[in-house]
Amino acid sequence: MKQIDCEHLYRDGRYYDLENEDFVDDIPFYLHQIEKYGEPVLELACGTGRITIPIAQKGIQITGLDILDSMLNHAKRKATNKGVNVEWIKADCRDFRLNKKFNLIFSPFNSIAHLHDLESIKACFSCVKEHLMDNGRFIIDFFNPSLNILTRDPTKRYPVKEYPDPDGKGQVVITENNIYDVANQINRVKWYYKIGSQSEEVVEDLNMRIFYPQELDALLYYNGFTIENKYGNYDETPFISASPKQLIVCHKH
Ligand SMILES: C[S@@+](CC[C@H](N)C(=O)[O-])C[C@H]1O[C@@H](n2cnc3c(N)ncnc32)[C@H](O)[C@@H]1O
Repeated sequence: MKQIDCEHLYRDGRYYDLENEDFVDDIPFYLHQIEKYGEPVLELACGTGRITIPIAQKGIQITGLDILDSMLNHAKRKATNKGVNVEWIKADCRDFRLNKKFNLIFSPFNSIAHLHDLESIKACFSCVKEHLMDNGRFIIDFFNPSLNILTRDPTKRYPVKEYPDPDGKGQVVITENNIYDVANQINRVKWYYKIGSQSEEVVEDLNMRIFYPQELDALLYYNGFTIENKYGNYDETPFISASPKQLIVCHKH
């Protein structure tokens, strides 16, 4: 099984939140799934609690699991400040054993892209099966790969995000480029951070395993899951070629 390689990218949860906290479109989707399938809920790779905390604020029993202290500590601080009760677990989503089963387990926001090899995916799905109630549901959210983005010109820079540095060092401007590694199906993205007036950019690697639609369905099927719904976006419209997302709801065979 390959080691994770995203520690550096996620070394400070404050930056992650400044880059992602304004994305909230997926939260109503998960609340609706919880209404249908029940609690307790387990979020794999919960990060800074961007989704976990708003769900817990509704009084729902939720456990957030992540491998990195840098993300979990920030999540814990935020939950404490908001007076919200979440069970936080530091663990690898490929190797965890909780004394508990869940009605809903979800892997949101492309987190599965951090699992680069078949062994990792098998191990994660096996842990999910062990922790899912017999009638429970597992949900994966992974984008619908765009060949245009994967194959774009690696010598060009594309804008990602801008925000004020949390330590007052000025404006952070992030741009990116990528090279798609066809054999390994890994999109090797580089994020370039220009911070205030500093002349040197900080460069971070983001290596994302790409899962094509039929492949993701087959991986789930051959690892013991029956797909019940495949949506193309958070509004629960069916998945089609032009859909931005692959939102798969499945249960154990
Ligand atoms: C894109 S972030 C998603 C965070 C959060 N779920 C959200 O939606 O904002 C990906 C997260 O995956 C976590 N991660 C990566 N590999 C992991 C693994 N093997 N086990 C558990 N968490 C992992 C990272 O620490 C990071 O917090």
